[in-house]
Amino acid sequence: MPVVRRFSFSLLLAGLSSARVSCSPTGTQPLDLPLALSELGFLTPISIGSPPQSVVSLMDWTWINQFTLSTLCLGSSHDTSACLVDGQAFFNQSESSTFVNQTSLYPARTWNPNGFFGPLPLTVQFGSDIQHVGPLSAPVTFMLADMQFPQPSSFPFTGVFGLSPVFQTDNQSTQSTFYQFWKQGLHASPTVAFLYCYNSTFGNAAPARSLCAGNDAVQSLGGYHSNWISAGSLQWYDSIIFPLVNTIDIVTSPEILNYWALPVTQHLIGNEAQAINKTASGAVFDYASFGRGAPVSINSYTRLIELTRAGPITLDPALAPNNGAQAFYSVPCSNVTKLPPLKYQFGAGTPQWEIIPENYVERIALSSSETACVLNVRTLGDGDWVIGNLGETFAKDKVILFDFDKLQIGIANAVKK
Ligand SMILES: *[C@@H]1O[C@H](CO)[C@@H](O)[C@H](O)[C@H]1NC(C)=O
Ligand SMILES: *[C@@H]1O[C@H](CO)[C@@H](O)[C@H](O)[C@H]1NC(C)=O
Ligand SMILES: *[C@@H]1O[C@H](CO)[C@@H](O)[C@H](O)[C@H]1NC(C)=O
Ligand SMILES: *[C@@H]1O[C@H](CO)[C@@H](O)[C@H](O)[C@H]1NC(C)=O
Ligand SMILES: *[C@@H]1O[C@H](CO)[C@@H](O)[C@H](O)[C@H]1NC(C)=O
Ligand SMILES: *[C@@H]1O[C@H](CO)[C@@H](O)[C@H](O)[C@H]1NC(C)=O
Repeated sequence: MPVVRRFSFSLLLAGLSSARVSCSPTGTQPLDLPLALSELGFLTPISIGSPPQSVVSLMDWTWINQFTLSTLCLGSSHDTSACLVDGQAFFNQSESSTFVNQTSLYPARTWNPNGFFGPLPLTVQFGSDIQHVGPLSAPVTFMLADMQFPQPSSFPFTGVFGLSPVFQTDNQSTQSTFYQFWKQGLHASPTVAFLYCYNSTFGNAAPARSLCAGNDAVQSLGGYHSNWISAGSLQWYDSIIFPLVNTIDIVTSPEILNYWALPVTQHLIGNEAQAINKTASGAVFDYASFGRGAPVSINSYTRLIELTRAGPITLDPALAPNNGAQAFYSVPCSNVTKLPPLKYQFGAGTPQWEIIPENYVERIALSSSETACVLNVRTLGDGDWVIGNLGETFAKDKVILFDFDKLQIGIANAVKK
């Protein structure tokens, strides 16, 4: 979930639409969405309406539907000036001949607080229109933002493409549009898969950029590519309901339970097991800004600092590797490859998944002449709770899969160069 707390707009959108990967809508190959990394998460080009209006969207494993900025502002659709800044791209529902107002079926809804705007209200109305995703197009129910307060600056995107799990009791207003496409027969499989073709900083092998067709990452919809996966490494887990997310992590009211979540049953630094609170330890998959940093408990962070002999460092928030509340620590860059991996187990008797130090340490340019190697970990909760978000940092060297039919999460090792 994007949090518009630390906001900066340097974007890597160049070349996004030309990098769109084409594929046959009738084949069994998944549709590969090209993703570009931005300050807030991964962005992808989709469009909505007739004729199609571009709705560059933030990809979000923790949001329940397609969200888009619209002409709605303080309940009226006539004037956006009290809500959006000049130059902000939005979807204009009046310009789409296929837009259907669904207010009578799904009345407006407000979450306050919420993971988008913190303590400011997130209000949406519902409509139906044709969504265009890669070569596929189909009618979907989606959310039109009815902004309730002025935005300080423009968003680097127009919408949010939600990929939260869908429960049997959910109606279309809380269904990912991927799920709505699948239900209409547009996808051969209810599975999605993510691969991050990150740039290696410390010389470790990373997945080849060609696997992502030259993009920063790919989110496949309707299947996965077995050539991304290291043979025999794919492990499936049942996703759990983890209500604590709503009170400590992505603080949302009314609460939302649609998360891809797993219990944390073991947490190790190298081979040293860390104490965990088994009732409170769990993690949600989230590759927007909360997914930056390896999740650790308050206590295991203290131990990691000890073991790595890291020293405190004060970072300008704009340079911090993640938006967690913890203090930051750095190590000499030449020591990074010697540090212990962080390990997690998500169910008794299942594999331990590693984050190698090359992936949990971030090399940060403090100035033109000064570089720091900062532990990119994120704490939440208390004492021995290991709770947090598995996103960009965890996903390095892995393939993350979700099965919308079985409500299962797959983790595999990615093939590397
Ligand atoms: C939306 O489109 C309609 C029809 O073209 C236009 O009259 C209206 O000004 C547009 N609204 C905004 C906020 O741009
Ligand atoms: C839908 O119609 C209702 C009632 O006419 C109106 O208040 C609302 O703003 C409309 N929503 C959209 C998204 O146009
Ligand atoms: C659809 O689901 C939402 C969220 O659970 C619920 O608030 C709403 O009443 C449901 N609407 C209909 C028409 O079923
Ligand atoms: C990796 O580096 C290339 C070339 O500098 C850049 O275009 C790309 O956006 C970077 N990707 C990531 C994920 O940082
Ligand atoms: C574990 O976390 C739960 C949930 O917050 C808390 O009630 C309990 O006291 C914690 N247990 C220990 C041993 O810290
Ligand atoms: C870095 O590595 C060197 C050589 O192995 C070691 O002597 C030193 O204590 C390490 N420094 C820290 C801060 O871990």
